[in-house]
Amino acid sequence: MPEAATSESLFDKIVNLSKRRGFVFQSAEIYGGFRSAYDYGPIGVLLLRNVKDAWWRSMVQLRTDVVGLDASILSPPAIWEASGHLKNFTDPLVDCRNCGARHRQDKLDDPDVCPSCGAKGQFTEARQFNLMFKTHAGPVVETAAEVYLRPETAQGMFVNFLNVMNASRKKPPFGIAQIGKSFRNEITPGNFVFRTREFEQMELEFFVPPGDADQWYEYWCRERLQWYLDLGIPTDKLRLRPHDADELSHYSSGTSDVEFLFPWGWDELEGIANRGDYDLTQHSTHSGERLDFFDQESNTRYVPHVIEPAAGATRTMMAFLLSAYDEEEVRGETRVVLRLHHRLAPYKVAVLPLSKKDTLTPVAREVLGLLQPRWMCDYDETQAIGRRYRRQDELGTPFCVTIDFDTLDDRSVTVRHRDSMAQDRVPIDELVAYFDELLQ
Ligand code: GAP
Repeated sequence: MPEAATSESLFDKIVNLSKRRGFVFQSAEIYGGFRSAYDYGPIGVLLLRNVKDAWWRSMVQLRTDVVGLDASILSPPAIWEASGHLKNFTDPLVDCRNCGARHRQDKLDDPDVCPSCGAKGQFTEARQFNLMFKTHAGPVVETAAEVYLRPETAQGMFVNFLNVMNASRKKPPFGIAQIGKSFRNEITPGNFVFRTREFEQMELEFFVPPGDADQWYEYWCRERLQWYLDLGIPTDKLRLRPHDADELSHYSSGTSDVEFLFPWGWDELEGIANRGDYDLTQHSTHSGERLDFFDQESNTRYVPHVIEPAAGATRTMMAFLLSAYDEEEVRGETRVVLRLHHRLAPYKVAVLPLSKKDTLTPVAREVLGLLQPRWMCDYDETQAIGRRYRRQDELGTPFCVTIDFDTLDDRSVTVRHRDSMAQDRVPIDELVAYFDELLQ
């Protein structure tokens, strides 16, 4: 993170920039805001999509051993009974008798003192609070019609293990990848989009022969850490933290978190877990379906073990924003610039005719027409050019193309680079090849 952006204020700067430039809005703001839910604006929807696309590209497109899935969000209790979520997906909740505030007991600095009012010894006994959202399918509100909004995308992949393996003719080691919304009734949502009740996950379930599980676990830890580094998170803001023995779930033989240095300290972006055969065995027992693999080469049947890299898309987007934010002095003024990796940048190119004169519009539209089919472009013809550059810097646009009056004579444009502010003069006929090279 650049020096100028101090940790103390960086968080507020990101929240303010998000609203001002259209990354993220508080949900239902005109009704006073719906706590812990957020809407992704015109720029945020592009950034979030680019985060998910970068994940999909690396996890599915560039591999031959991973296929995709988009499972339903509404799911029957049987899935959550088998997975253990109905029983165990809980947080300990305490109420303060003095001020009525509710807290997660395991997140309190002092388990005896209410952080809202300071009262000591006023907490109720902890109750286990299940984080799953329940609703009813169909018109009758009755127990038989109960369904859940999934709290993770993972189970959709376990219950489709056989369907996917048979349809795609894959065999272990192979993986199923999924991106989608998950819902958790968090007791203490907060820190902007870091912890919300509705969020997006990017999860891979990678099924391996039991004897190879440790090796694949190490492999995925390395791969996933590198993904964040390749997309521009600096090494000193990223770490892989193996869980202590008392943090591990009973079925996991190893879990590591990819952590980012948020303004409030190190916190989780992704968990990579060596889950053994727990999930397939549970669903096999509860459904009566045999969820295993017959290896014809060795003539053996086994339940594959699962390595699960599970990341949050919305949370990761926030980490990219925080690490890209920079401020610098330029000719006595502060320039705010998002130094986003070009793969993540919402717009790759902004086309900016110097003035809104009829003479420049046709050629500016011609340039836009060349670039728009290939890259997400912005087109902006109002305000002074300096202000338009500053706006694009705040959106993280790597390149601005300026069409000026010389363009009419020499059929060339000025390309301004976001990071260095250097400018190149490029013939219109060479623009596509020029950006192809820079944005590949
Ligand atoms: N299937 C395993 C699983 O869901 P998790 O650690 O509970 O594991 C994976 O969730 C990732 O999902 C987290 O590392 C985090 O990035 C994201 N995530 C979890 N809860 C979240 C929330 N309330 N708001 C935003 N992101 C969340």
